[in-house]
Amino acid sequence: MTFSRRDFVKSSVLGAVAAGVGAHAALPEALAENSQQGHASKEDSPKRPVIICAHNGYAYTEAAYAFLKSGGDTLEAGIRVVKGPEDDPNDDSVGLGGLPNEEGVVELDSCCMHGPTRRAGSVGGVRNIKNVSMVGRAVMEHTGHVMLVGEGAEKFAVAVGFPRENLLTDRSRKIWLLWKEFNSDRDWWEPGMADPHWHPPAPDSKPQADLWRDRIQQLQQRAADLGIEPEFQLAAVHRVLFPPTGTIHCSVLNDKGEMSGITTTSGLAFKLPGRCGDSPIIGAGCYTDQDIGSAGATGAGEENIKVAGAHTIVENMRHGMSPQEAGMDALKRIVRNYNGDMTKLRYMDMTYYVLRKDGAYAGVCLWEGYSPGNPHKFTVHDGTLRSEVATPLLKGYSQEWPPFPPIPEELKKDSYYLK
Ligand code: GLY
Repeated sequence: MTFSRRDFVKSSVLGAVAAGVGAHAALPEALAENSQQGHASKEDSPKRPVIICAHNGYAYTEAAYAFLKSGGDTLEAGIRVVKGPEDDPNDDSVGLGGLPNEEGVVELDSCCMHGPTRRAGSVGGVRNIKNVSMVGRAVMEHTGHVMLVGEGAEKFAVAVGFPRENLLTDRSRKIWLLWKEFNSDRDWWEPGMADPHWHPPAPDSKPQADLWRDRIQQLQQRAADLGIEPEFQLAAVHRVLFPPTGTIHCSVLNDKGEMSGITTTSGLAFKLPGRCGDSPIIGAGCYTDQDIGSAGATGAGEENIKVAGAHTIVENMRHGMSPQEAGMDALKRIVRNYNGDMTKLRYMDMTYYVLRKDGAYAGVCLWEGYSPGNPHKFTVHDGTLRSEVATPLLKGYSQEWPPFPPIPEELKKDSYYLK
């Protein structure tokens, strides 16, 4: 390969400004039309039981709801939802097959709160144990602590009976290797000059769109060389260019009014070893107060920690806000932390899942989605399982970090992941 991420970043900042992305939009003008409105049908006629979770929990929610209806515990129901993606090697945002840290090691985070007993448990930076959602619950049930991290959390998990296993699937390893090589203009990763395909770096004279096309095609070719399946190559390139944060949160309410919440993740792809985002932080990635409600988050962990998102939302509901107003207020705090500077806010996103004790709920997000036609969705079950579109605070679509020039249309058309 003959290109570097640093070149991309340098050239694309100029591209983004030229495209008008860099304007400091005034926040009120950027507000999405429905960001100030409630959803009467959701908030005025609530039902119970209710499960609300991130979109990737959809396939597991029907069974968890049936368990809840039969009298099952609310935290166990939540775990039955999030355990699905944790066990799925093809969900590379959670558990087995999660994208690894910069050293190629999968590190998982989770936290939970059990409303009826007002307890909490959490684990951060756990290696070699797939179901960290259950390890967090075990910390809650079997220790006098709330949070264990790293080697101590792994040892504890093994002590209480969780098996050690290799969490790095072949596909996630290859995506990590592709990322490693892509970022490798200063070290010895990627094939060297002896490789028959090596050629010196191209001069930066081509138009941006051409450079972009060349670079994606080279990355895709390298993905093919590494043996990544053809139908997943563009998705792999996307993950390399824009390391994702994926996660799942689930909040649960039963017909007695008992509530629990749980969040689990492999965190930001290619993170520094030891990095914990919001997901293991009680009050950021998840918060449940049996008297009020439950909330959780997926998205930019560092931003959510700074506004203690889930706790802020539950406190807002305590003071009378509806689920949607409570979530919007937390999103506005993220906007406030950047003084409404859209040049920065463009590169982050956040979705909150909010459930009040009476069954009213909301899904809210900072931006409308990643692109037109790809809105942020969440899963809800209140007797009917469905997918709903989250209500955005801001008009428009987030751009992923780091900044890049626009992707040529012909490269987008074949892949959901490059849209
Ligand atoms: N929200 C997941 C993370 O940032 O790790």
